[in-house]
Amino acid sequence: MFETLKPLPPDAILGIMTLFRADPHPGKIDLSVGVYQDEQGRTPVLASVKRAEKTILDAQDSKTYVAIAGNAGFNRGIEDLLYGKDHPSLKAGRVVTVQTPGGSGGLSVAGHLVARATPGARIYMSDPTWPNHQPLLKSAGLTLDTYPYYDYAKHRVDFEPMIARLDKANAGELVLIHGCCHNPCGADLSKEQWEALTQLCERRNLVPFIDIAYQGLAEGLDEDAFGVRLMAARLPEVVVVTSCSKNLGLYRERVGAASVVSANAEAAKLAAANAANVARGIYSMPPDHGAAIAGYILGNAELRAQWVKELAEMRARLNGLRRLLVDKLAVRKTPMDFSFIAKERGMFSFLGITKEQVIRLREEFHVYMVESSRINIAGINHGNVDRVADAIAAVLK
Ligand code: LMR
Repeated sequence: MFETLKPLPPDAILGIMTLFRADPHPGKIDLSVGVYQDEQGRTPVLASVKRAEKTILDAQDSKTYVAIAGNAGFNRGIEDLLYGKDHPSLKAGRVVTVQTPGGSGGLSVAGHLVARATPGARIYMSDPTWPNHQPLLKSAGLTLDTYPYYDYAKHRVDFEPMIARLDKANAGELVLIHGCCHNPCGADLSKEQWEALTQLCERRNLVPFIDIAYQGLAEGLDEDAFGVRLMAARLPEVVVVTSCSKNLGLYRERVGAASVVSANAEAAKLAAANAANVARGIYSMPPDHGAAIAGYILGNAELRAQWVKELAEMRARLNGLRRLLVDKLAVRKTPMDFSFIAKERGMFSFLGITKEQVIRLREEFHVYMVESSRINIAGINHGNVDRVADAIAAVLK
């Protein structure tokens, strides 16, 4: 039977990672997959994670299952991160959180849960969005649609067309919103825009479906959750999906969560039972190790403080690199103005160059990025930034 399967093009992001690994050039530069790198180009295990991991491994005396909803301490810790400790929806018992295998597992569980409540529900995704949103939410049974989000010419959120499109959506339809650090464009909603979007969802009975996989990497843990907290306070129903891949560097451990705000505590109980049942039907039990680490850190004042500091260092490095790249490109007097990169946040920005120029960067200069010209800012460092800037300036000539 397998000979009947169709050949596939490489994954838009992971395919570039494969090309990079196969390139023997010693000076190759990886600005592709969204993985944090330090000044030495490494993706180290955080010190807070190492400490938590050691304590957990020393104390662990069983490998029996934890629970379908995962580690309860982790789920509480994630709720505090997402909503803040005293959020009214938490106090009202309207929030249910389930530990999932990464943010992708969270998107899948949340998507299936929504589709179970409203079969074939329509979800509007930002154009552009992370390419994996589409297969994850489609296979969950949702109907995919889009709204305009990024103005490629002005390098900013295209807010009016976005609102105009969503103003035509029907009651009960969902809107996928990037909580912060928009992937791929790096342009986030301002507080005023979150407020306007919340009003629109209120007025038209739309349900936000917020993916906040990069919480803490834009302005800070609390600042980045502004939109989640606002919508969870004002709207009857909100879906939130998060990940510990990036902010805790737990990529391969696969730890994330799906969190649902329901209209009342009774509905929340139904959401909890159904989310667990959805997970049972996809993967049964989530992996424990990463969530045990994250849960331990979130619940321990000393380790939490250490992690918050490590996260602040990652964030400061990203924001510093954004300015550095803009300066390096400015002195090369490129025909394009790249100052927008310093205003965007998180790991990604579009350079805004053509696919042909992206391919030249890869083939002639060994600088790798996604074909949309999305760069991972964290792949830049003081040792390679001049080569990156030279290469970009060369292909723009
Ligand atoms: C990315 O966008 O590069 C990351 O989220 C990694 C992935 O799985 O695509």
